Amino acid sequence: MTLSGKRVLLIVGGGIAAYKSLDLIRRLRERGAAVRAVMTKAACEFVTPLSVGTLTADRVFTELFDRDDEHDVGHIRLSREADLVVVAPATADLMAKLANGLVNDLASAILLATDKKVLMAPAMNPRMWANPAAKRNRATLERDGVAFVGPNRGEMAERGEAGEGRMAEPLEIVAAVERLLSPSPGPLAGKKIIVTSGPTHEPIDPVRYIANRSSGKQGHAIAAALAELGAEVRLVSGPVGTSDPATVHAVHVETAREMMEAVRAELPADAAIFVAAVADWRSEAAAGEKIKKKPGAEPPVLRMVENPDILATIGHDSQRPYLVIGFAAETHDLLANAKAKLKKKGADLIVANDVSAEGGAMGGDLNRVSIVSTAGVEEWPQMSKEEVARRLARLVAERLKTIEV
Ligand SMILES: Cc1cc2nc3c(=O)[nH]c(=O)nc-3n(C[C@H](O)[C@H](O)[C@H](O)COP(=O)(O)O)c2cc1C
Repeated sequence: MTLSGKRVLLIVGGGIAAYKSLDLIRRLRERGAAVRAVMTKAACEFVTPLSVGTLTADRVFTELFDRDDEHDVGHIRLSREADLVVVAPATADLMAKLANGLVNDLASAILLATDKKVLMAPAMNPRMWANPAAKRNRATLERDGVAFVGPNRGEMAERGEAGEGRMAEPLEIVAAVERLLSPSPGPLAGKKIIVTSGPTHEPIDPVRYIANRSSGKQGHAIAAALAELGAEVRLVSGPVGTSDPATVHAVHVETAREMMEAVRAELPADAAIFVAAVADWRSEAAAGEKIKKKPGAEPPVLRMVENPDILATIGHDSQRPYLVIGFAAETHDLLANAKAKLKKKGADLIVANDVSAEGGAMGGDLNRVSIVSTAGVEEWPQMSKEEVARRLARLVAERLKTIEV
């Protein structure tokens, strides 16, 4: 009875895979969970509320504007009186609604109102799943903390269609529910890891600065993925629009020198991952007052001086963490530059990513990286920044020998 005493609110979306949700309810209840079900209008076209209600042994909720429900249970209470909200099947439509904050039925109202973790089991045609809009929505939801299980590869209900888009099997969804509701300590429990993220801003005067296009998405995703594996994460972030993952301790800085100091203050640590795009140079003397444009005067000349090299400094420091990983953002000669960096900076691994305009990594949601170590180069296919983060977090656990390779 691994889920004994746990309350699962199951939202059934309108897809062919809704029939598998009937089995999911059985499997969850077998393990001791109480399951309450909400069905979308479309879901009722695929399976009946009668079948769902019989299996949950409870009434099934379908309407947002239900006089009885709003007085009795209502969407707010429904969303709060659960330990976990599971959406299975999660349709393209439900994912799009939550990613964009749309609320026009009971299911979407619950998803927006809940203060509990949400687990989605997407199911859709492979072309729908591969559509850039669906990819964007998934990346947004992952950033917002939604957990995913599946979809899997395989045959679709439509004849002759196959690919990635099949809903995860009920037992896979149950395993994900168990992981979320009774989390094990995680392979990185007890490990302190520093992650830097975002750009730095190097002042020219009180209103102007030199910056770069780093969004912080990759660094923040890595911090969150490490925390998910149980690490105590110290995120040292430059100025970004991305919010801090709730599970990490964040320190905010502006300049490279501040970032250097903040990283130093976090030592000792078991590992450090330097994802931030730190400015190589700063203006030698930032003006104390706004530099004025004067008629007829020459434009000001900025003399640049080098910023501290955080990766190289920590890579050769007496308090060097056991594992040091650097990021090499390059626009050309990617691997040659990354290999050179490995030695020069005293890093164990360099994650080389192509940040040329065509690659779209800077500021985008996708990334294609290569992992460079003394053992060689491992090229990863293009994937979401969250997926890169999860893979890298597992690699960190392997390197720190907290999981078997
Ligand atoms: C036969 C049929 C099968 C469908 N299967 C899916 C599916 O697997 N995944 C999906 O996202 N949408 C699927 N749709 C489209 C959804 O039912 C439609 O987008 C609906 O508005 C979803 O509503 P909901 O998100 O409120 O449940 C299917 C539609 C039909 C007619």
